[in-house]
Amino acid sequence: MQSNPFSLDGMSILVTGASSGIGREVAVWLSRQGARIVAVARDAQRLEETLSQLHGEGHSVEVFDFLGGSDVSAWLKALSRNGSPFDGLVHAAGVQLPLPIRAMGLDHWETIFATNVTSGFSLIKAFRQKGVCRNPSSIVMLSSVMAQVAQPALIGYCASKGAVESMVRAAALELAREGIRVNAIAPGVIKTEMAQKLEGLVGEDAMAAIERKHPLGLGHPLDVAYAVNYLLSPAARWVTGTSLVVDGGYLAE
Ligand SMILES: NC(=O)c1ccc[n+]([C@@H]2O[C@H](COP(=O)([O-])OP(=O)(O)OC[C@H]3O[C@@H](n4cnc5c(N)ncnc54)[C@H](OP(=O)(O)O)[C@@H]3O)[C@@H](O)[C@H]2O)c1
Repeated sequence: MQSNPFSLDGMSILVTGASSGIGREVAVWLSRQGARIVAVARDAQRLEETLSQLHGEGHSVEVFDFLGGSDVSAWLKALSRNGSPFDGLVHAAGVQLPLPIRAMGLDHWETIFATNVTSGFSLIKAFRQKGVCRNPSSIVMLSSVMAQVAQPALIGYCASKGAVESMVRAAALELAREGIRVNAIAPGVIKTEMAQKLEGLVGEDAMAAIERKHPLGLGHPLDVAYAVNYLLSPAARWVTGTSLVVDGGYLAE
């Protein structure tokens, strides 16, 4: 038995959405636990800010746009050839685009699904390639409590997170024999840019009402990072195909 089954020491982890919010905090926390991070997003400058906050050596940044049409499998294959195979993947890139149904066009819907769902499928497919991941390894996808409940103006987002959780279950069944565990984390509202944008749309009073629905108050990106740590670590070796709710009690009501 390992002396600390929660340790990530020496692991190589790809983190998407690492230029902001949850992805950035996850990257920083995992680096503090001894992991080597490849931090992915579109904004090179914000990725460099993340890089400057990482602890230890050997980290790198990768500018990649999941809406850009590039081949995710070829990209991950090249990344692992230049570095070492990955022990983990955390997919925190995502968009919310809150819009009432009357204002939501098919283009908005497709942007949400391409960023939140199709990117996840492409990453899972790419990650399982020979030489890209180790056996055992672990994939963590960011879902949301909105996979289970809803709010007005979030039809696309809610549907996309429901799809993420279904995809995680299907991938977990298929990839178990390859030693790859696949799980989701479903946060309540976490104080990030995404939550700020939501407040900008719904207003302070509505946001205060949303906050009151969280018995423990709104979350911090670090609350999600701790859960990611667990799912990536050997301590979660018998956990796959599930979604871990981290929501300050939001769904308990
Ligand atoms: N904050 C919350 O309350 C909350 C609650 C539940 C679930 N979540 C989920 O947690 C994840 C992270 O959310 P967050 O709050 O940290 O959001 P955020 O601060 O808005 O960050 C989103 C990240 O996604 C990246 N991204 C967006 N579109 C991309 C694209 N086309 N290609 C590559 N990267 C892209 C952004 O980077 P660039 O702009 O640099 O590309 C950024 O790093 C999302 O999946 C979100 O749905 C958040």
